[in-house]
Amino acid sequence: MFKVLITDPISEKGIEILKREPDIEVDNEPDISYEELLEVVKDYDCIITRSRTPVTAELLERAERLKVVGRAGVGVDNIDVEEASRRGILVINTPGANTIGATELTLAHMLCVVRNFHNAHNSMLEGKWDRKKFMGTELYGKTLGIIGLGNIGSQVAIRAKAFGMKVLAYDPYIPKEKADRLGVKLVEDLKEMLKQVDILTIHAPLTHETRHMITRKEFELMKDGAVLINCARGGIVKDEDLIWALETGKLSGVGLDVYSVEPPPYEFIEKLKKFPNVSLSPHIGANTYESQENVAVIIAQQVIKALRGQTVEYV
Ligand code: MLT
Repeated sequence: MFKVLITDPISEKGIEILKREPDIEVDNEPDISYEELLEVVKDYDCIITRSRTPVTAELLERAERLKVVGRAGVGVDNIDVEEASRRGILVINTPGANTIGATELTLAHMLCVVRNFHNAHNSMLEGKWDRKKFMGTELYGKTLGIIGLGNIGSQVAIRAKAFGMKVLAYDPYIPKEKADRLGVKLVEDLKEMLKQVDILTIHAPLTHETRHMITRKEFELMKDGAVLINCARGGIVKDEDLIWALETGKLSGVGLDVYSVEPPPYEFIEKLKKFPNVSLSPHIGANTYESQENVAVIIAQQVIKALRGQTVEYV
């Protein structure tokens, strides 16, 4: 029997697929603490996680029989992939499965910030009817800069173009032909792109290369009053420098779904609260019924194959 432990909430559909298999035994512990996991991990052949569970070298060291780490989602920055490979443990994820959820949340933040939607909503809840206060700008005719033209970045580009935006992208790993097909101008130098954009949106993974890719130096290059949307990973933007950019008016608004520490310390939220145009959500890019079903079903199918030694794509 293969023992599988699910350490984060995933859709029932995926759990059912695993439970149907005669050679797989599933324990669903979506609220398990890291300390508890350290105690029990030695009993499992596979753990299935989302971003809540840190899969550290310390954990892997105790995982005597672990063969597979399944990430129900895209980002593997919570997993020590290097250490897992060193120990011969496969790390598999579900690229593409939650693309639309993340894409649509990005557009939601973008629209919220440019139309002041969240503030207008809150003022209505306070009993006000303040039409003059909530002037906004349009996406139409504005320039969007996308960092990372992978699955999510490409879908954001398609929708931004439907809004009549001019779309630029910086992604050293994407061929120009792909950008051409999307009607996006691929820019080789990030600095050049930053100078031109009205809105910057990030869709890159968090790696050694992208950590603190956006700091005060990069904000300084941007137009005054630009907007930043980050639904990718918090560590890509340096927190103190983001606050600096809002304080100086370099950024007129920010939409964030991700934070360098999750949940973010309340002091950081208090700093953000001072600024009038900040739209925040608690890492819910992939939280749609459709995306959650997709990631759970795909990771379940992949895990079954991986445990049986069949071919799977791995990170
Ligand atoms: C992902 O990397 O797939 C998303 O950020 C969603 C998640 O962490 O579950």
